[in-house]
Amino acid sequence: MKSMFDEEKIKELFPREERIPYEFKLTQPIKQDEYLINGEMLLWKGRKRKVFSPILIKDNKGLKKKLIGYYPLLTKKEAMTALFSAVKAYDNGRGFWPCLSVIERIKYIEKFLFLIKEKKKEIILLMMWEIGKSLHESLKEFERTIDYIQNTIYALKDIEQASSRFVIEQGIIGQIRRAPLGVVLCTGPYNYPLNETFSTLIPALLMGNTVVFKPPKIGVLLHYPILKLFHEIFPPGVINTVYGEGKEILLPLMSSGLIDVLAFIGSSKTAELLKTHHPKPLRLRSILGLEAKNPAIVLPDADMELAIRECLNGSLTFNGQRCTALKIIFVHKKIVKLFIEQFTEGLGKLKIGMPWDESVVITPLPVPNKAEYLSELIKDSTVKGAKVINKSGGVLYKTLFYPAVIYPVNERMRIYHEEQFGPVVPIVPFENIEEPVKYIIKSSYGQQASIFGNNPEIIGKLVDILVNQVCRININSMCQRGPDIFPFAGRKDSGEGTLSVSDALRVFSMRTIVATKESDINRQIFKEIIKEKNSNS
Ligand code: G3H
Repeated sequence: MKSMFDEEKIKELFPREERIPYEFKLTQPIKQDEYLINGEMLLWKGRKRKVFSPILIKDNKGLKKKLIGYYPLLTKKEAMTALFSAVKAYDNGRGFWPCLSVIERIKYIEKFLFLIKEKKKEIILLMMWEIGKSLHESLKEFERTIDYIQNTIYALKDIEQASSRFVIEQGIIGQIRRAPLGVVLCTGPYNYPLNETFSTLIPALLMGNTVVFKPPKIGVLLHYPILKLFHEIFPPGVINTVYGEGKEILLPLMSSGLIDVLAFIGSSKTAELLKTHHPKPLRLRSILGLEAKNPAIVLPDADMELAIRECLNGSLTFNGQRCTALKIIFVHKKIVKLFIEQFTEGLGKLKIGMPWDESVVITPLPVPNKAEYLSELIKDSTVKGAKVINKSGGVLYKTLFYPAVIYPVNERMRIYHEEQFGPVVPIVPFENIEEPVKYIIKSSYGQQASIFGNNPEIIGKLVDILVNQVCRININSMCQRGPDIFPFAGRKDSGEGTLSVSDALRVFSMRTIVATKESDINRQIFKEIIKEKNSNS
């Protein structure tokens, strides 16, 4: 095993300002005093939240936090103004934006797409500094978002083409189209602040809805350059932004009853709170991406090298801070010793360091007190009989946490149930396949699972059981959301609704039909409407 880290060595990984490569220096804090409501960039003079990077900076006195910017902490009052602006822009479906033809709306998004590409460097740099995401992963997130937007436009053009045709059935002529739903409250998570935000925001806009957008609590500054584009491109009220404490801002919005769609990616607890605050729950549509505890099941005949590689990437990419990460690994008793040996050896080769370090995987954690929480989970499992089985596992200094592998984990331990969302890997030995199956059935979550093995009969049977438990079963592959044209969903407390490039267009719209009984006069009316372009639909 290569790596041996103690607290001192971890501490040494934080850079001195002068050692930061020139292209990754953040020389000036981002001073965001503005927010966007009704097409106006308003100046905020109230309280602001200072943003400190998880990357600590060394100087002669020790390590210190680096201030990378601030953003407005708005209150209920501004949040409601933002909401009223979105409501006004929607105007019961009679506003400029919902009435615009799809082709015209696409033009706005194409302009946005063109201009956001120019902000690539700035956005990636802020992502690295604010959430500690590696350069490689930040670039991937940016590119993926660009592709997502582009592919959403293509998918909408396809839908549009299909729905421009008339259907004649049982003497009824009908044109079936998709119409917007109203005002969407759109929030994004800190781990994919760009991609996950735009995977709901863009389809919501394209379908003619108006939006109140709240960036995540961490991962806000990278949205500032984008805010300027929203201001430059979109008509007043189509996008409005709010910042601040979730409870203070979001609960009044939901209580108003004026939110038609909740697009939320975060915890099930908050999602539940938000949904229950809506006075007309039947009117509210929700699209939710919530917690997950995706298991890997490693069968006795698994290709060990492949299983190790996928389980390492699956559990530790971006420090395990992916909703789709493998968060518990069940390994058959026959091979568990070998698995552990090779897994910890592979882990020892993973690089820990700063986001700009080449091939780095483990980087500083952005959530305050996260390292302490992970340490608590480790303590709980060791008290109950497990061990940290990799060298340096769980060693930490401030925001840098060396990944810990815990074995043998059982149901009495918190890590067996809780979503760690960080670099702690619990391994559970099993003898009978019913053990991991029962775990999955009893779990509060139902997003994805991975199976590693080579026997088609056994895998096939397992797939049949798991298809009714989770939304994606990955065979000899880690869990993941992508490619984004695949449906992404969750059962139980893991989510509501399905996202994918094309599904998202559907969830932010509903079908409406213009129909008439076949007769000469009705046919003539339809023809005239189309010929004279009397309708945008
Ligand atoms: O955190 C959830 C992300 O959408 C996961 O995406 O599986 O492609 O990394 P990914």
